[in-house]
Amino acid sequence: MDSLNGKVAVVTGAGSGIGEAISLELARGGARVIVADIDEDAAARVAAAITDSGGQAAANRVDVSREEDITRLVEDTAAAYGRLDYQFNNAGIAIGGDARDLTLGHWRRVLDVDLYGVLYGTLAAYPIMARQGFGHIVNTSSGAGLVPMPLNAPYCTAKHGVVGLSLSLRHEGADLGVKVSVVCPGFVRTKIFDSAVVVNMPREPTDRTPGRLKMMEAAQAARVILDGVARNRAVIAFPGYIRLAWRVSCLFPRLVDQTAPRQIREVRMYRTVGRGDA
Ligand code: NAI
Repeated sequence: MDSLNGKVAVVTGAGSGIGEAISLELARGGARVIVADIDEDAAARVAAAITDSGGQAAANRVDVSREEDITRLVEDTAAAYGRLDYQFNNAGIAIGGDARDLTLGHWRRVLDVDLYGVLYGTLAAYPIMARQGFGHIVNTSSGAGLVPMPLNAPYCTAKHGVVGLSLSLRHEGADLGVKVSVVCPGFVRTKIFDSAVVVNMPREPTDRTPGRLKMMEAAQAARVILDGVARNRAVIAFPGYIRLAWRVSCLFPRLVDQTAPRQIREVRMYRTVGRGDA
């Protein structure tokens, strides 16, 4: 990464997990970090951890699903510090379940935060960065933004949207000096698994992943992400099993068609209502 000294970064969802780890890492490198989260106490805790260790940070309560919240934060930040170098649109939530059990309300909640939240942050930062002639927008999607994720259709829809948004804008922005990357992690140990809404399905133990895939720690994920940002990667997909799944689903879609239904049937056996029609 270019030296982070003197750089200004906004990070949403910075009160926990991956966003917190990114904030700490940016601050360690010398950046001023605007720690934004809907959980005001969590944002304050992370900002205090940074300033207590000699870094520069400010905490802000922001609901990314409210366009006015995030627009105000981004514009105020650029005005206060005279620049905006990084915009990490990272905040996200998860809701899973069989599509027959999910209401439009479930869909709206996920899309409002995971897709529109990222879009609002992007639209707020993009014109400022275009005017400056520099800046990097880093949008958090997921492995679920690259491959289908049955029984998580709303989350997967939002995350695919984030990939499309980011890769399209990347080409538009390049000519204006604005970089855009999209982050597609696999399993990272954070509280998203505990706070996820799981509808009519048993909740998997937090540390159990499908196929017993290893959970990455958030600090390691942040280092991988910032390394990808430094290299201006279009898609920062990790760990290796996400890149493999992405390639397999592109190159051999019929393989996925053949294996997915059996796996879904196995999970559906645990559906707690409507099992007769599963
Ligand atoms: P986390 O639950 O630890 O952190 C998410 C943060 O976002 C929380 O501090 C929460 O308060 C905040 N947040 C939620 N709704 C918000 C809103 N409306 N406005 C502002 N802040 C809000 O979760 P984690 O894992 O760190 O998630 C960060 C991003 O990484 C999310 O976009 C998630 O979808 C994505 N991701 C996470 C993976 C994982 O295995 N942990 C895998 C793939 C993607």
